[in-house]
Amino acid sequence: MKILLLGSGGREHAIAWKLAQSPRLTKLYVAPGNAGTNGVGAADCENVAMKVDDFDAIRDFVLEKNVDMVVVGPEDPLVKGIYDFFRNDAQLKDIPVIGPSKQGAELEGSKDFAKGFMQRHGIPTARYQTFDGEHLADGLRFLETLQSPYVLKADGLCAGKGVLILPTLEEAQTELKEMLGGMFGTASSRVVIEEFLSGIECSVFVLTDGRDYKILPEAKDYKRIGEGDTGLNTGGMGSVSPVPFATKEWMQRVEDRIIRPTVEGLAQEGIDYKGFIFFGLINTPSEDGIGNPKVIEYNCRMGDPETETVMLRLKSDLVDLLEGVATQTLGQRAIAFDERHAVCVMLVSGGYPEQYEKGKSMTGLDGAGESVLFHAGTALRDGQLVTSGGRVLAVCNYGLTQSEALEKSMSGAEAIQFEGKYYRRDIGKDLA
Ligand code: AMP
Ligand code: GLY
Repeated sequence: MKILLLGSGGREHAIAWKLAQSPRLTKLYVAPGNAGTNGVGAADCENVAMKVDDFDAIRDFVLEKNVDMVVVGPEDPLVKGIYDFFRNDAQLKDIPVIGPSKQGAELEGSKDFAKGFMQRHGIPTARYQTFDGEHLADGLRFLETLQSPYVLKADGLCAGKGVLILPTLEEAQTELKEMLGGMFGTASSRVVIEEFLSGIECSVFVLTDGRDYKILPEAKDYKRIGEGDTGLNTGGMGSVSPVPFATKEWMQRVEDRIIRPTVEGLAQEGIDYKGFIFFGLINTPSEDGIGNPKVIEYNCRMGDPETETVMLRLKSDLVDLLEGVATQTLGQRAIAFDERHAVCVMLVSGGYPEQYEKGKSMTGLDGAGESVLFHAGTALRDGQLVTSGGRVLAVCNYGLTQSEALEKSMSGAEAIQFEGKYYRRDIGKDLA
């Protein structure tokens, strides 16, 4: 099978690494990819200089190379309707795209749609109301009925920056005016105001063919730049899988209250969804001590850097599972996990997530021991590996315990050198 994978981050390198293990794969193209995805695992993997949302170029490429399946990494092409683009094209319509339809991608593309969907299907989430510019006064009054801290979410996609959590009513009211006034362009022309939930977060991933679903290993990501979860938000500084508080009983609750109602709700509403669903959950207290999971957000794709640990723990053939999605036979496929712990530590450029320099020479990758290295922001310049982004390289390891996996990733992280390298040493330590 020839597969085209769209995307260029650590998530896509991890997916490519897993796909490349399959005997079913004959050729993997990654567009645009990074220095790690060129020749991953096998020689039969190559990067293609193509933008993930250039649908016409993707069309030409898929037809020219006889690609059998397209796997979409990031949300952007999904929210822009790549699935529908394929279904509506006479020559492409039988080529499966792993990812939801444009309507299904609204679970991520519109916070208001996601909240309405959860309300319609009784899926536990924070209480909320949505306001547009014409109803600013109502929004300001609604804020007065809530307690600090205040959560404001731009309705549309904002590259992960559209959520504000504000300590005072005054700040919340000021920010609401700013958001509805165009702070995030049209993405914030509607704003969801919701109740603040406190608890630990956990990311749960599901692969669905629209009828059946398979639950992938859960993971937790670490978003802040500083140790002890301090400082600015980033695209993710590391992840762990499994997550200790995600016990069997807790996961059963997630499945019964959240996953099944979501998959069934999509089917009931006639929404075509064949791909990954990412449930961003928060664990709130319950009287029986198991915990009460609620949905903070949906994403219509896998998470980054969670995928880096999830793929390490997925034992089953990913190509086989994706074929099950494409042919709606997922229910007949088996899924198995590696029982070991996986920890991913992200090496980032000095200064990130603010200003940082690119083009720094990277060395020492051979000295990273057993580490599985997933490239995120890397490129080849005159044959030399250099940094090309804020998040540079994910150093991932297995361990019989989480701390063993972390220790191995720490020594891997030390071995790899580039000017300005920074990483967190406390990934997963809050859970131990
Ligand atoms: P989102 O883009 O919806 O995932 O929000 C980004 C981050 O804001 C989440 O990962 C949470 O850490 C936090 N957050 C979002 N909504 C809430 C909420 N209702 N209560 C507490 N924290 C929240
Ligand atoms: N790790 C969070 C995300 O991928 O959105």
